[in-house]
Amino acid sequence: MRLSRRVAALAVAFGTMFATVACSGSEEPGEGTKKVEVFTWWADGGEKAGLDGLVGVFKTDCADYEFLNGAVAGGAGSNAKQVLASRLQQNDPPDTFQAHAGAELSDYINDDQLEDLSAQYTEWGLTNAFPKGLIDNLTVGGKIYSVPANIHRANVLWSNKTVLAKAGITKDATTLDGFFADLDKLKAAGVAAPLALGKDWTQQMLFEALLISKLGPEKFNGLWNGSTPWTGAEMTAAINDYKRLLTYTNKDRDTFDWTDAEKLLMDGKAAYQLMGDWEAADLDAKGFKDYGWSVFPGNGNVFQWLADSFVLPKGAKNADGTKCWLKTVGSATGQAAFNQKKGSIPARTDVGTDGFPAYQQAAMADWKTATQVPSCPHGSACAQTWQGAVGSAQGKFSSDGDVAALQTALASAAAEFGPKK
Ligand code: GAL
Repeated sequence: MRLSRRVAALAVAFGTMFATVACSGSEEPGEGTKKVEVFTWWADGGEKAGLDGLVGVFKTDCADYEFLNGAVAGGAGSNAKQVLASRLQQNDPPDTFQAHAGAELSDYINDDQLEDLSAQYTEWGLTNAFPKGLIDNLTVGGKIYSVPANIHRANVLWSNKTVLAKAGITKDATTLDGFFADLDKLKAAGVAAPLALGKDWTQQMLFEALLISKLGPEKFNGLWNGSTPWTGAEMTAAINDYKRLLTYTNKDRDTFDWTDAEKLLMDGKAAYQLMGDWEAADLDAKGFKDYGWSVFPGNGNVFQWLADSFVLPKGAKNADGTKCWLKTVGSATGQAAFNQKKGSIPARTDVGTDGFPAYQQAAMADWKTATQVPSCPHGSACAQTWQGAVGSAQGKFSSDGDVAALQTALASAAAEFGPKK
């Protein structure tokens, strides 16, 4: 695996923050290139397996072009987003990059960094292929700027079945109280840190899952649209419960990516991990079979969604090749090949369940009936600036446990970056 010169320079610039860059070739794309540089953070495990599935279809459907892997490793784009921001600032965009539907995508649109794809939607017959709500999340000012690849679910609790059985836990908890009782049982059975947890964005996910249980979906949505205050007693109670939840987690959490926490679960050192359903694909890719899943206790029939989508940046070197990539992403064949390996479900409504692992088949059924709420760390609920502020506040809380300080910081973040009244 070789690094392109430009990416290698950025790697140096980002120092230790920068993990791995996977490039399939050493040549950089240039004028008249056939290469399509696809920028993601899907560098390993189930994420890479999903990307490979899509690339397989691209190779067949877009044989005139060549896939160039611009992946920058690091869960949820923790490294990739910085590299991307820097490249966009220098007018050096990749041919396409992944962006989450919702507020995160709006950031790029508002900064005038993306081409309008409305004509391609008509040409490729995409306009009615996706659910209307999702299309609304990809549209600004009547124009549509990206092609969604999938729907992921964020609020899933993964478990190690053997560890649960040893502690005498035979049923999934459906309430927070029940969950705390199971965590206590695990501790009593000698599992010191039964809930595996990682750094920043993974902590945001755990906190959000807890907020959904404490507030319910309507008030949870209100946190992002401005109708639910971050101040007040209900939020204080939720933060106190979150503080209690942290006492069941590994102390080195702030140094862990989601895959490090996942390893604790696979090794039987932890019983649970709250993580999006890319974990299903990753556990499968790693050959770990002894896992169970349930919706986070107390979330009921809520599906916390996020969607990866691909864009055509202004100034892309190979716009025609990128359009072929985007057409593949939006096609039924592309969505089946990608999602069967990625843990997510197709964004298109016309892809059947055949060939999908059991987890995704269940998720496809849930998606049809569940109440939908968005995710801030995965861009559907909040802009990157807001996410950054929440992330720093929670990172501080992870070490000082100061409930009042966290609540004040969350309220200030909402006032600064949330919708203006
Ligand atoms: C999310 C992304 C998923 C998955 C995850 C972990 O933000 O939407 O596709 O890659 O990060 O890296």
